[in-house]
Amino acid sequence: MLAEQPEKRSVDDSQMAGKGAIVTGGATGLGRAIALEFASRDVNVAVNYIQLPGRDIAAQALLTETELRSFGVKVFCSECDVRDSEDVERFVSSAKAELGGLHFLVNNAGIARDGALWRLSTESWDDVLRTNVTGAFHCTQAVAQHFRSQHFGKIVNISSHQAQHPGFGVSNYAASKAALIGLTKAAAVELGPSNINVNAVAPGFVHTDLLDALPDEVVDKAKKSSVLGRLAEPRDISRVVVFLCSEEARHITGQVIVVDGGMTLT
Ligand SMILES: NC(=O)c1ccc[n+]([C@@H]2O[C@H](COP(=O)([O-])OP(=O)(O)OC[C@H]3O[C@@H](n4cnc5c(N)ncnc54)[C@H](O)[C@@H]3O)[C@@H](O)[C@H]2O)c1
Repeated sequence: MLAEQPEKRSVDDSQMAGKGAIVTGGATGLGRAIALEFASRDVNVAVNYIQLPGRDIAAQALLTETELRSFGVKVFCSECDVRDSEDVERFVSSAKAELGGLHFLVNNAGIARDGALWRLSTESWDDVLRTNVTGAFHCTQAVAQHFRSQHFGKIVNISSHQAQHPGFGVSNYAASKAALIGLTKAAAVELGPSNINVNAVAPGFVHTDLLDALPDEVVDKAKKSSVLGRLAEPRDISRVVVFLCSEEARHITGQVIVVDGGMTLT
């Protein structure tokens, strides 16, 4: 049986300017670059975040918010835990009101809690799966009815090369990023009839604070593993994400775009 289709309302899909985007985990790193990429194209942006142990994410969020505002777009920045569906519902409804409309969702919030699987605690397993997969599900569900009723929407999930080519000690992370690819394809099937594209981007190693905190030999190895001989800069990823939200990509859905400098070729 065909799913019931909400009434179509017209959205001008010819341009991005003036539309609204949510970037989860958008205060730092890759999410921040994605939020700035949207703002640089006059897209209004909402970002959320939570505090993480040993890092002052709230301070980073303030800096990101200030930089986003310098583009002259509407900005909404708030603490919101994607693991909590009620928190997500509240955030999405405030973002919609503050930005004056929602058209793009980037599920970027993600964590890693690495460890050999025979020593991995159930807590580390659950925390990574609940953030990286259930969080993306909560956000997708929270925007779905709105996107369906306006007959327009773009969703991009940030997966990882580790989904297909895991290193050692990432069983929880690799499982979560592979599950995110499954969610991407299933959501593309269910939301496609409502003119909603759902894709995933799978970055290799990206030059963020997290990577800088790793030992030099690990970073060197990561560089050498790319056939282009370098790490991705956050903009190498953010431009692909924004492309997937543009009308140039209107016929791409349910796909995983690997942006890893050819790392997984060898
Ligand atoms: N950096 C890399 O090399 C790399 C490679 C592949 C994929 N990724 C993915 O890119 C995404 C961003 O990573 P990053 O490197 O910028 O790391 P990061 O730690 O700087 O960013 C993660 C952000 O997610 C937020 N967050 C964490 N848990 C949350 C929750 N429950 N609710 C809301 N927000 C939450 C944090 O506040 C933080 O701002 C992640 O999904 C990560 O798995 C990163």
